[in-house]
Amino acid sequence: MDLFEYQARDLFAKHDVPVLAGEVIDTPEAAREVTERLGGRAVVKAQVKTGGRGKAGGVKLASDPDDAVEKARAILGMDIKGHTVHKVMLAQTADIAEEYYVSFLLDRTNRTFLAMASVEGGVDIEEVAATKPEALAKIPVDAIDGVGIEKAREIVAAANFPAEVAEQVAEALVKLWDVFIKEDALLVEVNPLVKTGEGRIIALDGKVSLDANAEFRQPDHAALEDKAAADPLEAAAKAKGLNYVKLDGEVGIIGNGAGLVMSTLDVVAYAGESRGGVKPANFLDIGGGASAEVMANGLEIILGDPAVKSVFVNVFGGITACDAVANGIVQALELLSSRGETVDKPLVVRLDGNNAELGRKILSDADHPLVEQVDTMDGAAARAAELAAK
Ligand SMILES: Nc1ncnc2c1ncn2[C@@H]1O[C@H](COP(=O)(O)OP(=O)(O)OP(=O)(O)O)[C@@H](O)[C@H]1O
Ligand SMILES: [Mg+2]
Repeated sequence: MDLFEYQARDLFAKHDVPVLAGEVIDTPEAAREVTERLGGRAVVKAQVKTGGRGKAGGVKLASDPDDAVEKARAILGMDIKGHTVHKVMLAQTADIAEEYYVSFLLDRTNRTFLAMASVEGGVDIEEVAATKPEALAKIPVDAIDGVGIEKAREIVAAANFPAEVAEQVAEALVKLWDVFIKEDALLVEVNPLVKTGEGRIIALDGKVSLDANAEFRQPDHAALEDKAAADPLEAAAKAKGLNYVKLDGEVGIIGNGAGLVMSTLDVVAYAGESRGGVKPANFLDIGGGASAEVMANGLEIILGDPAVKSVFVNVFGGITACDAVANGIVQALELLSSRGETVDKPLVVRLDGNNAELGRKILSDADHPLVEQVDTMDGAAARAAELAAK
């Protein structure tokens, strides 16, 4: 989960990383009072989960409270790389002498954590990384050893920080590592980390991405979720404990096992190419023990997606045999009608593997008007695409 800058700022403050005072607002008028509280001047910053806000006009200096209202009015509602600005953060202004870059991230390719640092930070860091790779120090960090003051000094030395700020930057790095580990982050990035005119080091902008797999031990993180931005179907699926991802096509997909569902997406996309360009509408893995209830929950989510025109249920019977899944489908359809859900989209079911014959017979006997069986995966994908294209 990516955080907004103001949320990253709050986490930094919690772990004693030096930051400036800031407050987040969602109406222009609120800027006046906040700016007064911040000392009469403020930087008005768009809160969107993308970089390059400054270059897009989403970061503006306000010289007084009225000006802050004007700047907030200009930035709220702005579109930055497809993200609408719903909130702005007002922050104290920093007297910037130099801009640096530091980050910690999980380096999956090299199976390690990685520290990156540069004395050429600021809004052009991507260009520095691309054209002057030697200006961006990259130091692997051992997961067990982490970043103590010695390791932090090694990073600072590798990036050639000026002597007068070296120790302060090293201390900031140790605290940022605290954020990284204690908050179970996958990325903690500060750009710019600034040196002020007085020689103080401050984190002026933060990007933090938290590891969703650590949710169970981070009860505070649920509050950081951007509920307004969450897809309602994904939210409903999550509440039911389903592995569901919304996609932008028309063929609803249900399968058992992530690998099978991934390949189902491929065959449906392929079959759809020659049938008006229809595509998969979602990823949904109902897992091994596909009970009637899980099947009903999955169908309910998929049928509730107005974009879905047909559904492809692709099951390879293993430990949970096809007859159990077939019974699950029959019961799920009954359960949905009893819940008052309208089931009016065609279902193409392909059963293969353990007890496939028996499963197919159960579905044939049930003779549901919307359920159609096709024995092969390619055939079923083609049929589902054809129904969706109608
Ligand atoms: N509180 C502040 N006081 C003074 N200047 C600031 C402040 N915050 C940001 N700036 C200036 O605005 C620039 C852009 O701000 P910031 O880095 O927060 O946004 P960004 O453009 O989204 O960053 P990135 O390019 O890292 O995605 C900074 O490099 C800095 O020069
Ligand atoms: Mg920045």
